Amino acid sequence: MAKLTLAVLISGRGTNLQALIDACADEAYPAEIGIVISNQADAEGLERARSAGIRTLVIDHSEFENREAFDNAVSSALDTHEVQLVCLAGFMRLLTRGFVDRWRDRIINIHPSLLPAFKGLHVHERVIESGVRITGCTVHFIRAEMDEGPIIAQGAVPVCAEDTPDSLAARVLEVEHRLYPLAVRLIAEGKARVAGEIVPYLDLGEAGGPLINPNG
Ligand code: GRF
Repeated sequence: MAKLTLAVLISGRGTNLQALIDACADEAYPAEIGIVISNQADAEGLERARSAGIRTLVIDHSEFENREAFDNAVSSALDTHEVQLVCLAGFMRLLTRGFVDRWRDRIINIHPSLLPAFKGLHVHERVIESGVRITGCTVHFIRAEMDEGPIIAQGAVPVCAEDTPDSLAARVLEVEHRLYPLAVRLIAEGKARVAGEIVPYLDLGEAGGPLINPNG
């Protein structure tokens, strides 16, 4: 079967990109990365893509007059590379409604919280301050409002008493690296589709027990 062509959009270190690169290295994985686009020329993730022999493109937002012009340049690059699914992975630019509508249900994001809780930036600091006992990450289809849109998959981790934002981020990140390739696979296999603004639940037969924290 033909593989789904992905674009991965990054701005920084690209560890989620790396998780997707590693997943795509498996011949049986139903997707491949056609292009990695960064708005930052010095993004570490670009080097990860180059080492894996994946085409890269820098589209520097500061060279465009406004958001629409930047988004149009990104859209044409996606068209040129015949991209079927756009994966945002630490891409630190807000996208215009026009762009999001154009790629509706063909653009996804990973966010380091259990959405709809803790949208936005500085998530782990806010999670610790709030006193919640469980947090995690979410892969979702994108809508024009930040961190909104139908949820495809979530992973949970405990918040521990001694956690700092960094230690919590590291625990969540490990799950992100499993979750993003899983979500992309479900889309590529036609198992995760938007219907009525949710992605109907799919029983993968792998669900574990409840995650309860504290567990005493
Ligand atoms: C991740 O925590 C992701 O959830 C958020 O930005 C971070 C990107 O990290 N959207 P990386 O560049 O993939 O390492």
